[in-house]
Amino acid sequence: MKYIIAPSILSADFGNLQRDIEMINKSEADWFHVDVMDGVFVPNISFGFPIMAAVKKHAAKPLDVHLMIVEPDKFIGDFAKAGADRITVHYEACTHLHRTVQLIKASGCKAGVALNPHTPVSLLADIIGDLDLVLIMSVNPGFGGQQFIQNTYKKIRELKHLITGVNENLVIEVDGGVGVENIGNLVSAGANAFVSGSAIFATNSPTETIAKMKELTGK
Ligand code: DX5
Ligand code: ZN
Repeated sequence: MKYIIAPSILSADFGNLQRDIEMINKSEADWFHVDVMDGVFVPNISFGFPIMAAVKKHAAKPLDVHLMIVEPDKFIGDFAKAGADRITVHYEACTHLHRTVQLIKASGCKAGVALNPHTPVSLLADIIGDLDLVLIMSVNPGFGGQQFIQNTYKKIRELKHLITGVNENLVIEVDGGVGVENIGNLVSAGANAFVSGSAIFATNSPTETIAKMKELTGK
């Protein structure tokens, strides 16, 4: 089993974005996690296409784009063109989720669906076979640096159960409050991709923290 570490550039120093991207390029990280917030779906605004283009220009690893926006269908083609490899939309933001997932795939990207902490995994039962990734939010989306919600473990186990015999290659990604202290337990619960922002960028050596996280997955 390959475990994925996806540093969130939301916690990078935007004044030194290229430096932080090069750091991730040289580290053991696997993907760049790109958090897009619109100020409507979540109570915060992060960045849009110009910043994403700047990231894409320097990033030597895939872009894992997490859209915390309403009406994502309007922009899927643009995010694909801007260099997304994976596009994850929120269950709560999609009235016609099946259509949105097909749009993502037609754009040439892998398709993911994110669940807010209050949204049950069981709601994905009729779409799970179409997905490449499910992103379980372990904080309420909108900000980095929040406290991990413990109920996440139960949701990971339920998702693992849901994909068994149906879509076992699906990536189970966890986002929010993830760091060296809980990554081992998240692996045990069944997760295999880990987004981490503040726990990586707030340390003296982000590269070493990434290596430590990777080591704790058992690789
Ligand atoms: C939150 C974002 C996360 C965030 C994680 O809305 O989706 O990706 O950057 O940051 P930390 O690891 O600091 O909780
Ligand atoms: Zn995210």
